Amino acid sequence: MIVSVQQAAALLHSGEVVAVPTETVYGLAASIRHPEGVAKIFSLKNRPQDNPLIVHLAASDDLHKYTTQLPRGATELAKKFWPGPLTLVLEANTVAIDAAIRANLPTAAFRVPQHPKALALLTLTGPLVMPSANLSGSPSATSPTHVAADFGEDLPILDGGTCSQGVESTILAFREERWHIARLGAIPPEAFQQILGYKPELFTTQNKPICPGQMYRHYAPRATLLLSDQIPPGTKGVVIGFSDRLYPPECNVIPLGNSKKPEEAAARLYQVLRDLDCNDVQEAVVDFDMPDTGLWLTIKERLKKAAS
Ligand code: TXA
Ligand code: MG
Repeated sequence: MIVSVQQAAALLHSGEVVAVPTETVYGLAASIRHPEGVAKIFSLKNRPQDNPLIVHLAASDDLHKYTTQLPRGATELAKKFWPGPLTLVLEANTVAIDAAIRANLPTAAFRVPQHPKALALLTLTGPLVMPSANLSGSPSATSPTHVAADFGEDLPILDGGTCSQGVESTILAFREERWHIARLGAIPPEAFQQILGYKPELFTTQNKPICPGQMYRHYAPRATLLLSDQIPPGTKGVVIGFSDRLYPPECNVIPLGNSKKPEEAAARLYQVLRDLDCNDVQEAVVDFDMPDTGLWLTIKERLKKAAS
């Protein structure tokens, strides 16, 4: 059910859940002031309770109300990247941010999204929690059609068209005097160099996961994905590849985009993964010959998770 910004605000004020567009992916929103709305998000998504939610704000000025202290660099990061696809994990004001939202952690994740409809809504409603609007473990939703496919036609959806970035926000967390990447996302690690003076490192699997939710299976279609740096001659069947590359003639190529344009591949990634299931594809080979830099890191990480 498509709703207007005003209708969405009224529903959220009464504790309901609404799907909301952001520049990254669609979110499933509830007001932080409505515990029953927050609980409904977990049950609708079938999301484990120990996977915390991101609090979305209309502006960074509100941050001090919901945090206790800001680590070095937080203000500069917010100033540079908000509104936009950056999420910061910060010490939470545990009175203002319910334990259910934080999965009982002393921290909470925050972001100011860029999508004009999300911002218009947040201005009316105040802070909203918004996990990605997909069933837990499924590819994220980048269009109203994807949201309705997962949650049915009755769920109120604020239609903001197709998401421009197509992959989730980059999550940064401050540990041992440095910012680390807790989740690769729409902003590549290199983009933080100028503000921080260093490129934040990724939390690796040897490190303790930054929160329990990180260990869950993610982004996966039902189809089996085979990641391959080289598509051998004679390959048949579905190949997820690039529009400017040649593949063996028997392949049915689904293009992610141009191999020189990671933004194209990011924007199409979840659509392509969802199309596999819509078309009952059992198995697809992925042309995994992509650089280990920039936004390609995020695309490769999502594909790895989708294949695992
Ligand atoms: O782009 C996005 O970030 C989208 C749009 C809708 O804003 N939202 C999104 O939410 O991707 P979700 O719930 O799918 O992913 C949020 C992730 C959690 O899985 C968890 O890993 C991390 O954020 N997170 C949340 N709170 C955290 C915390 N206190 N400490 C560490 N990680 C946290
Ligand atoms: Mg998600």
